Amino acid sequence: MLAATWLLGACSPDDGPGNGSLSAVETGFLGGEQLQVFPDAPSEVGLYPDTTNRDDWTPSVSLFEPAHALWTNGSEKQRFVSLPVGATVDTSQADWVFPVGVIFFKTFSYRALDEDSLPIETRALRKTAEGWEYAVYLWDDEGADAALLDGSIPVKVAVSHQGDQFEHEVPSTLQCRMCHESQEPRVIGFDELRLNAPLSGDTATQLAELAEAGILSELPPAPDEIVHEDELTESVLGYFQGNCVHCHNGSFGAASAFDLDHSVALENIIGVETTSELVGGIRVTPGLPDESGLFLAVSRNSEVTTAQPMPPIGVQRVDEVAVDMIRRWILALP
Ligand code: HEC
Ligand code: HEC
Repeated sequence: MLAATWLLGACSPDDGPGNGSLSAVETGFLGGEQLQVFPDAPSEVGLYPDTTNRDDWTPSVSLFEPAHALWTNGSEKQRFVSLPVGATVDTSQADWVFPVGVIFFKTFSYRALDEDSLPIETRALRKTAEGWEYAVYLWDDEGADAALLDGSIPVKVAVSHQGDQFEHEVPSTLQCRMCHESQEPRVIGFDELRLNAPLSGDTATQLAELAEAGILSELPPAPDEIVHEDELTESVLGYFQGNCVHCHNGSFGAASAFDLDHSVALENIIGVETTSELVGGIRVTPGLPDESGLFLAVSRNSEVTTAQPMPPIGVQRVDEVAVDMIRRWILALP
């Protein structure tokens, strides 16, 4: 079947190009350097053998769920990793090395009241010999199949979710890069820190499961985690990690002006002056959320602030739960 072989990478790199199954040769997805362009539809990708049943996904891919996930308008997300046969992610160093041919997928869905969830878009990120490539598929109104977008502009889609109607924006390829390219590797949610938690319903961490399955070359000996004696502070640090650190990570460039990584976030924000000309003032003023530039940015309320809404791309709605959490945290700061 063409679909499954596309994903499988079809044969091990040792086999060399041309020695895979006939359909693999036809599609050219040999798990090596000979990667073809992304197919036009996910039905050809083979991620969902039956696209109308997204609980049924190809067994050759692995589901994962990052701790400290990114909040995207409250959408549900399903994430997968697929490796060429025989390849592993080299986790022997702190900076993980991904093999050529690795593909990540993420499907975004919304759920109107009393309805099944409906997929809106499936994003794909893969490593080729030249570097990382991005692709995005837009699903049709029935959620029956999807088509590859050209990625030149963001696409707005009207959605219903838990009683709310709003427009979800499918990012352009340039926007993918704004979030994914401020760090190496380009993968964001598949790292030591974020896999150091079980999938819901499991007991072993995903790190342990993936190492056991041979997807990770080894289990990191003392995996990174976010720990703070104060539970609320720990949650706030987790929120920054999931929603901000892909830009605010202390690397060069305007988008990462200051570092919100859990190891340094507090010292970079509490009582520290903002560099933004738009708001001015202090990032976090203990006890005073409304005089905290960071809070104003996250609350996205243009009626009370000129602060640029944060995150600046990728969300269109206010994350009320996070806003409330950060407000309570700032109020409680000594
Ligand atoms: C607003 C920032 C942002 C934008 C824009 C964005 N991403 Fe991501 N993406 C993330 C973050 C953060 C994660 C990891 C956390 C999560 O999945 O909840 C992620 C995860 C992914 C994953 C799963 C693998 C991984 O890196 O964890 C894929 C695949 C992906 N994104 C593809 C894309 C593509 C393709 C685009 C553009 C069409 C895109 N993303 C746009 C922030 C972004
Ligand atoms: C897509 C990249 C991106 C993401 C994600 C992002 N930011 Fe920003 N952030 C920027 C850029 C670019 C600026 C500079 C704009 C400005 O000066 O107002 C900025 C500025 C800021 C500022 C004001 C500048 C300063 O020095 O204090 C704050 C506060 C801020 N971000 C907080 C956050 C928080 C909190 C999150 C997560 C909820 C977040 N950002 C997510 C790109 C990003």
